[in-house]
Amino acid sequence: MIKKATVVLMLLAMIGIDSAIGAPKPVRLGLDVSGLAELQKRTEQYRDDLPKPASLGMHEIIAYEEHKNFVCVVGKTAGGDKSPSYLRRVILVKPSLLLVDDQISGLGSGDNFQWKLAYRKVNRPVAYAPAYPSKISVADSTLQGLDSFTAPCKNGVGRVVVAITLGQKDKPAVKIVSNAKPLVLKIETKETRCKLTLPTGAESAGSITITDAKGKDVLAERVLPSGIMPHGPKGVKMLAGWDSRYTRKNAAPWDTKRVAVELKKAVESGKIKPGRAVVLGCGAGTNSIYLASKGFDVTAIDVAPTALAIAKARADKAKVKVNWVLADVTAVPKLKPFDFMYDRGCYHGVRRKFAKEFVASAKRLSKPGTQFLILAGNANEARHYGPPRVKEEDIRNDFKALFDFTWLRESKFGANGEKGKGPLMWSILLTRKK
Ligand SMILES: C[S@@+](CC[C@H](N)C(=O)[O-])C[C@H]1O[C@@H](n2cnc3c(N)ncnc32)[C@H](O)[C@@H]1O
Repeated sequence: MIKKATVVLMLLAMIGIDSAIGAPKPVRLGLDVSGLAELQKRTEQYRDDLPKPASLGMHEIIAYEEHKNFVCVVGKTAGGDKSPSYLRRVILVKPSLLLVDDQISGLGSGDNFQWKLAYRKVNRPVAYAPAYPSKISVADSTLQGLDSFTAPCKNGVGRVVVAITLGQKDKPAVKIVSNAKPLVLKIETKETRCKLTLPTGAESAGSITITDAKGKDVLAERVLPSGIMPHGPKGVKMLAGWDSRYTRKNAAPWDTKRVAVELKKAVESGKIKPGRAVVLGCGAGTNSIYLASKGFDVTAIDVAPTALAIAKARADKAKVKVNWVLADVTAVPKLKPFDFMYDRGCYHGVRRKFAKEFVASAKRLSKPGTQFLILAGNANEARHYGPPRVKEEDIRNDFKALFDFTWLRESKFGANGEKGKGPLMWSILLTRKK
C-alpha cells in the first residue's frame, strides 16, 4: 500500500509536470464515505433536492437519476485549458453496493493518475475492491484509514473504478467482462448482482442490469441517465407514468410506426437537409430512425427508458445508428448544437408546466439558422380526448423571441399520416434567429 507521505509527493509530482504547460489547478478527488451514506438514504425516500456534490467529491452534478433499484450521479470538477478535468460516476445499487468510476483527462502522457479513498468516522463496516484497472494492488482491502493507489495514464487519460460495499465486511466480487471500450463489469455482493456497461466521458451514459443474489431478474438492461432526470416523489412518478405507456400493451396510441407526413415532406422536398439532428421526446423511435436512414446524424432524447429500449431494437433491425439519450427535455445535457430539431407530441404536453424550461433547452441545443419542426395538438378543435392542445397565441409567445416562424399551419395527427383522420394539429417550422 502507498503511504500517505508518498501520496502527497506523487500529487506534487503530477502538479509539477502540469506547471510546465501553465498554472496547475489541483483538484481534490477524495471520496467521503459519509456522502455515500447520504446517497444510500435517498433510495429509501425519494428527495426533491439533488445530493450535495461536494460530499461526493464533485464540483457540479451533470447527470442524476433516482430509481427504485439504484441511484446514479455523474459529476465533474471544473477543468480548463491549463488543468486536468475530472469526471466521476457514482452508482448505488440497492441496498448497499456502490460503484465509483473516476476519469481524469488532460494530463501529460507519462503521468500517473493518483487515486485515494478517505473516510471520516465510519461506524459500520465498509469494504472495497478495485475493479479497474485489473492490475491495481492494494495490500489492505478493508478501510482502515486513507488508502490510495496509482493507475497508469494513457494519452493524458486515466481511470480508476472501485466497487464498495457499505455496511458489510465482505468486499464485492468483481469480474471484468470487457476491458475494451466501453468497459463492462459484473459485480456480485451477498445481496445483489449487476452488470454495468461504462463508457468513458460524459457524452455516452452506459447501462445497468440487476439480478438478485440468486440470479432472478430485478431490472432488465436499461440505459443510465445523460442529464438530470426529474426527481423527488413527483419526478419519479412522472417518469414511471411515461415508461408504463411503453411497458403496457396498446398504451402508446401515438406510436403508429409510420413516419409523420409533415416530417417526410420537409425532408424529401429538401426544406430540411441532412445534418446533426436532435429528436425531443423521441418515443419508440420511428421518426429518429427515418432521419438516420436519410443521412442525418441523430441524437434522440426521451425520459422513458423502455421507449429507448424499443427504439434501439428497431434501429438495430433497420441497421441504422442513433445516439439514444435518457434525459429530460427541460434539463438537457450539454451537447454540441444541432442543425435540425424535431418534436412530435412532446412540446405540447411539457409546455403546460415547463414552457420556459423547454424554450431554454431549445436555445441550448440550437444555433443561429437551426430549423425546428414541431407537431403539436391544436386548440382550434374542441376534443375531450387525444393529445394536449395548444393555442396559436401561446406557440407564438413561447418561441417568438428566439425563432422566426417559417410556417405555422394546420394539419392532422392520424394513423394514415397527418393528412388522414385524427386530431387537429399544428405543424410549426421555426428557424433560429441570427
Ligand atoms: C406523445 S409521446 C410522442 C412520442 C414520439 N415523438 C412519437 O411521435 O411517437 C411523448 C413522448 O415524450 C416523452 N416525454 C414526455 N415528457 C418528457 C420530458 N420532460 N423529457 C423527455 N421526454 C419526455 C414521453 O416519454 C413520450 O415518449
